[in-house]
Amino acid sequence: MSGKFYVTTPIYYVNDRPHIGHAYTTILADVLACFHRSMGDDTYFLTGTDEHGQKVENAAAKNGISPQQHADETVVRFQELWKKLGITNNDFIRTTEDRHKDVVKEILQDLYDRGEIYKAEYTGWYCVGCERYFTEKDLVDGKCPDCGREVSALKESNYFFRMSKYQEWLIDYIKSHPDFIQPAFRANETLGFLKQPLADLCISRPKARLSWGIELPFDSDYVCYVWFDALINYISAVGYRRDDAAFARRWPAGCQLIGKDILTTHSVYWPTMLKAMNVEMPKSIFAHGWWLTGNTKMSKSLGNVVNPMDMIGLVGVDAFRYFLMAEMTLGNDASFTREALLRRYNSDLANDLGNLLSRVVKLTLRAGGAIPAPGEPTGNEEEFNAAVDTAVSGMKNCLENMKLDQGIAAVLTAVRAGNRYVEQCAPWAMAKNNDTAHLNTVLYTVAANLRRLAVLLAPVMPGKMAELQKALGSGDEVLTIGDLLAGNCPDPAGRMVQEVAPLFPRIQDEEEKPAAPCAKPEKKEKAKAEVPAPEVAELITIDQFCKVKLKTAKVVAAEKLEGADKLLKLKIDVGEAEPRPLVAGVAKYYTPEEILGKTIVIVSNLQPAKIRGAESRGMLLAAKAGKELRLVTVDGDIPAGAEIG
Ligand code: ME8
Ligand code: MG
Repeated sequence: MSGKFYVTTPIYYVNDRPHIGHAYTTILADVLACFHRSMGDDTYFLTGTDEHGQKVENAAAKNGISPQQHADETVVRFQELWKKLGITNNDFIRTTEDRHKDVVKEILQDLYDRGEIYKAEYTGWYCVGCERYFTEKDLVDGKCPDCGREVSALKESNYFFRMSKYQEWLIDYIKSHPDFIQPAFRANETLGFLKQPLADLCISRPKARLSWGIELPFDSDYVCYVWFDALINYISAVGYRRDDAAFARRWPAGCQLIGKDILTTHSVYWPTMLKAMNVEMPKSIFAHGWWLTGNTKMSKSLGNVVNPMDMIGLVGVDAFRYFLMAEMTLGNDASFTREALLRRYNSDLANDLGNLLSRVVKLTLRAGGAIPAPGEPTGNEEEFNAAVDTAVSGMKNCLENMKLDQGIAAVLTAVRAGNRYVEQCAPWAMAKNNDTAHLNTVLYTVAANLRRLAVLLAPVMPGKMAELQKALGSGDEVLTIGDLLAGNCPDPAGRMVQEVAPLFPRIQDEEEKPAAPCAKPEKKEKAKAEVPAPEVAELITIDQFCKVKLKTAKVVAAEKLEGADKLLKLKIDVGEAEPRPLVAGVAKYYTPEEILGKTIVIVSNLQPAKIRGAESRGMLLAAKAGKELRLVTVDGDIPAGAEIG
């Protein structure tokens, strides 16, 4: 074992239906847990549900059932969704379980006995929605500073936790432990909040007002404030006050994931509670950003909440997990749109990763089905191998620094290098020419590298990466990132590849209507009224067609054209003494890296032109449908400069 890792998610309120925000935090925790397991760490992953408090009581009353019955019915939605999403949590805690309630009561009694909790008269304001007390100066325009709803005036006796006495300690702790609250700007936000005097925390609710909670062990007229109860789940679930050995094995947590909405409870209440209990602090509390629907906040009242089940139906569990992980830079907000999901699916997964696998499987099957031992180097291996090495060695660092999107991006860079490698080597031509010495090298290099990349992506897409490994003939072998880092990979040569259905078949978005080929719809209306549109495009003679000289061309250099976000500046080999310059309007669809090495089709006898100051001799051909654009390429291997006609 190299280390230990305990990861937690917030425990979600059972009154809500899980949406992609909840799914996101849980998938993120799962991916982190799977990565740590794959690196050989003693890993533990906890999630669960928050079942007490006003919101649950209200929701139950609305349905005419008891709060417990309501919780029992709704908790299933979360448990089923986690099963669907392949979540590998080690435990699922519900705050209505005795194992949790009993520990909360003991903690309350202990804190009370030691004078950390006291009774006092409270006068102020209360927000039912947020279940929080506010002083007059906290209010914004007389309303709740958090949710903006009406607050009610309150005067009642309550129990208070002496949170204020830990203010200076907490400030020092956050300052001297830069990894404690992450990202760093959230630590600063907490320190900003702590510039104001910290009040003591009201931790009770009179039963007369709210009965759905854990009864205070020292006063049966009160129940415990839901947040004080809920936060304790992180330790009650792993043996605090019950099993010292188990607790020492798990705690302190390596990473407590939260959304930015619940920063204060986790960066102020939770640490001061632990301090009063004499329990060690978690190593880090990480607040991620918000998933927005397009550019607006996802909320039930706006009716723009994305249901994870719909997205699973569209692209499958693994691709959905992949999108969420690859698209969000941890700490920042990200926008969820169906278009972005499909775009990433079609480009990263269908075109790049799926394509590389299907290429190597097809070519290997054609050569007999066994992954060959490598033969002669082709001279092109270095870039691909180096990209895979970089992805392998960089992943650990990306994980430790919560830069998951960058770790995934490095894997995709290596996948693209793999496709480029295949195009450069043109193994189909090697096969045709019986050049097995080189062909074997290409097949081996792709299979071995793809296997390493699949190990890196397995925590994100466990199902699909297992399929990929099977296709490469891995049988029941399970390689880990620990194996990769130790260089501990059995030689794949000799294994039989398996014919498989495409791993990520391309998806055409049916909701998106293809654009009219020539005219915009409103213009078409007008055109109809004036001149009838011709049924068939104007016909040309064979002689006219022959005037257009089409040729194959290999892209030998590619860069963005400065100052033009739609244009790429290419150098193409057309079989002439010198490569030609060509400017193409494809930058929205292809990166320079993606287009480099491709054999494309150009109109070679077009008059030269200057486009944005750059010379262009020729025009490339591409197919366009709706928002999609794909280059016209040739099937199989053909030298650059071949005539087309
Ligand atoms: O706050 N984008 O539970 P909750 C990203 N029970 N993440 C989102 C999100 C969005 N749009 N919406 C929700 C509670 N989340 C308490 C927690 S912990 C001791 C008690 C995620 O059901 C995110 O992780 O309101 C956020 O912090 C959490 O769901 C809130 O879930
Ligand atoms: Mg919430």
